[in-house]
Amino acid sequence: MTDPHREVAGRAAAGFQTVYGEPPAGRWAAPGRVNLIGEHTDYNDGFVLPFALPLRTVSAAAPQPGDRWTVWSELTGETVAFGADEVATPGRVTGWAAYVAGVVWALREAGHAVPGARLAIASDVPLGAGLSSSAALEAAVLTALVDLGGLDLPTEHQPRLAQRAENHYVGAPTGIMDQSAAIRCRAGHALFLDCRTERVEHIPFDLDPAGLVVLVIDSRAPHRHVDGEYPARRASCEKAAALLGVPALRDVPAADLDDALARLPDDDVRRRVRHVVTENQRVLDTVALLRSGQARQIGPLLTASHASMRDDFAITVPEVDTAVDAALAAGALGARMTGGGFGGCVLALVQADQADRVATAVMAAYAERRFTAPGLTTATPSPGATRLP
Ligand code: GLA
Repeated sequence: MTDPHREVAGRAAAGFQTVYGEPPAGRWAAPGRVNLIGEHTDYNDGFVLPFALPLRTVSAAAPQPGDRWTVWSELTGETVAFGADEVATPGRVTGWAAYVAGVVWALREAGHAVPGARLAIASDVPLGAGLSSSAALEAAVLTALVDLGGLDLPTEHQPRLAQRAENHYVGAPTGIMDQSAAIRCRAGHALFLDCRTERVEHIPFDLDPAGLVVLVIDSRAPHRHVDGEYPARRASCEKAAALLGVPALRDVPAADLDDALARLPDDDVRRRVRHVVTENQRVLDTVALLRSGQARQIGPLLTASHASMRDDFAITVPEVDTAVDAALAAGALGARMTGGGFGGCVLALVQADQADRVATAVMAAYAERRFTAPGLTTATPSPGATRLP
């Protein structure tokens, strides 16, 4: 029998009890994610198709009087406390607690009467693996505060607010994909999100009946230059949109790509644009296949997405390229890096009866190159943020 205190929700509640000497009023869970396809398209107002993982971050929480927030993290063992003054100035609360303070900041900025609260955080989402541990933390805290305060903030408006926390309080210029996945995903489905309108469609992505699995391979690549490279890619895309006279690269249809490329002055910018425009089209093509029940057929689109990230967007590293190549050589239907890049995870769409063979081949390819052994797991499309019973 499993010990409930070993499970993440039990650990958050037990931590709350130990740190604050009373049980929490409730527990809220939010998942990490992988992105099936649509990379670096979100901040170009384009399309993405993430799904939530069973790995979750849980906040156990209860109100406390006044404008005071106290947060304990299982991971570091620290307790951080801050008040309205620290929240009012982005950057005053730092480290992991900045994501929590950022959520309070964004709610207050939007005019909500955020209740003071005590929180205890536990998580199964690994940090730095490109599975959006930060969005899971933001969503677990946001949904707790919304419920505790009875705030009028419909689910569809929550991702934008969590993104503002990350962009303006923490200072990372990310798009809206990760927060949308953490909050809006459904079990058995991928989330087709139009990042301009924020309209979503839940696309059935039930792997079991199709005899498929998604293998998630943690490349274990040390993150290299991540801090500067992500904003640099975003800036190139915005510069290109300005040169082309469109609000965002989303407005360049795939059919007009050659014309658009001919109007751009330098090869790097041309390659960035080609990635974004073709990637948006690949998301649409993937959605069309999934809508008509052809999950097996999406493999080549995943692999083409990887080639585009490697050759045009220049965000892959040897470890992820090795994992993709080895998975494909061992029979994966498709494989690609998922997430912001420069490390993180690779996902491979694999026939269930081939999963062991593909996993073994990836391990062997890593060993041959003397890379740190990869992490291997399978992913089931899981629900977004929810209050636990
Ligand atoms: C990170 C960001 C997202 C998105 C991806 C790349 O995960 O947080 O907003 O831009 O990279 O697709």
